[in-house]
Amino acid sequence: MIIVLLGPPGSGKGTQAKRLISEVKWPQLSTGDMLRSAIGAGSQLGKEAKSFMDRGALVPDSVVVQLIADRTRNEDCRAGFVLDGFPRTLPQAEALDQMLATRGRGIDHAVLFDVPDADLLERLTGRRTCAKCGAMYHLQAAQPKKQGICDQCGSALIQREDDRAEVIKKRLEVYHAQTSPLIEYYKKQEKLKTVNATQAPDLVFQAFKKILY
Ligand code: AP5
Repeated sequence: MIIVLLGPPGSGKGTQAKRLISEVKWPQLSTGDMLRSAIGAGSQLGKEAKSFMDRGALVPDSVVVQLIADRTRNEDCRAGFVLDGFPRTLPQAEALDQMLATRGRGIDHAVLFDVPDADLLERLTGRRTCAKCGAMYHLQAAQPKKQGICDQCGSALIQREDDRAEVIKKRLEVYHAQTSPLIEYYKKQEKLKTVNATQAPDLVFQAFKKILY
């Protein structure tokens, strides 16, 4: 199964993708995580991506399309994969459809995690992530047992550079201008499913799974 996760920054795409892949064999392909790894590794790609990400802008389509084209050739994607944060523009969605068609495949569902903008600022400014294993926390809603330390691997929790209020505002603008047209795109293909993602994470996950199996 090939699943696209759609939704504004902070809507819970990463949270729900992680829950899903703990139950199924498909990998989570997060372009945001891939780009942050490239930044961490100090590669040329990382240097270029950082200048866009730090100001809340999208990295050029050609860069992310190539990342996904390469990554989905891996053996672990044969049975399916979960796209988290890709596609994010109409050209990316069209490139994905074309790429999958040449491989005799296609996406099964585009799942929209629906949350109003008013809820997102608090979610994102409060988010903390493990620098080592990527586990996710929230200062109020999902606290680690020991402040600032990951429950799973004991490493330090960090705040993402783009989770500052002024950058979040820009990311939301970018989402509405460049990514939200994908809702109509997948509606026309009859692949769009919407989940009320204002509910608690467990309830969101139940609704998400009902769509899939
Ligand atoms: P990316 O890393 O993809 O960020 P994003 O889409 O902005 O999404 P987030 O990771 O911020 O949020 P999420 O929906 O995954 O929510 P999460 O589960 O973490 O992209 C970052 C940047 O990379 C982009 O700005 C761009 O520059 C670049 N980029 C990436 N992909 C690209 C592409 N395809 N094209 C071009 N550029 C690209 O949850 C957030 C918080 O809320 C957490 O603290 C969590 O604990 C909490 N939470 C989750 N669910 C709930 C709930 N139900 N109730 C209460 N709190 C909740």
